[in-house]
Amino acid sequence: MINVAIDGPSGAGKSTAARMAAKTLGFIYIDTGALYRAVGVAALRWGIDTADGARVAAMLTEIKITIGFFEGVQHVFLNGDDVSEEIRLPEASMAASNVAAVPAVRAFLLALQKDMAAKNNCILDGRDIGTVVLPDAQVKIFLTASPEKRAERRYKELVEKGNIVDFNALLQEIIQRDYNDSHRAAAPLKQAADAVLLDSSDLSLEDTVAAIVRIIKEKAVLS
Ligand code: DC
Repeated sequence: MINVAIDGPSGAGKSTAARMAAKTLGFIYIDTGALYRAVGVAALRWGIDTADGARVAAMLTEIKITIGFFEGVQHVFLNGDDVSEEIRLPEASMAASNVAAVPAVRAFLLALQKDMAAKNNCILDGRDIGTVVLPDAQVKIFLTASPEKRAERRYKELVEKGNIVDFNALLQEIIQRDYNDSHRAAAPLKQAADAVLLDSSDLSLEDTVAAIVRIIKEKAVLS
């Protein structure tokens, strides 16, 4: 199986670009952030403080996270309940960032990710795919963009959906999440030594996808 790891900070356009690249190549796209978000949603539903690692870890015995694909679109289930929309709520983002710092949560989601990768030609996007989940992936890409560019893109997305948003608050949240994700002790966000760095600050989505596809074709022997 060909496994492609795409890691990078939030808002670098990983999921959209990875999904499109996977479609071009006929690979499955797996959004691993959705799994952390589902654990975050569980903690919110259970009324647990997401910063309380011990309680979050204890909750894991009560939850089962699974993923399924409908017409090529990934859905994530929490104890059989489709939470694919709920995980996109703003409060789920911070909850996910908090629970992702808990080692027991990372261990809990590891087998599911490895199992999916073993069975499919796939692109996984996340923070620690190239460093921890799939250290032997044939292709590793670290996709990033400046915090300002990422905030700008998110701002446009939200405004287009009719939301009223404060650009500076958005930028601060991105900087805070970057800090959380790259400074936690457990599997911090960091470029794998053998990953190709791709900065999308000045690239359109189409150019980013083209660059990803080119890197995959160069690194993996596609039949
Ligand atoms: O990519 P995202 O914004 O949906 O990810 C949600 C959170 O989960 C983010 O704060 C980082 C964390 N995460 C992680 O720690 N490891 C991954 N492989 C994917 C996401």
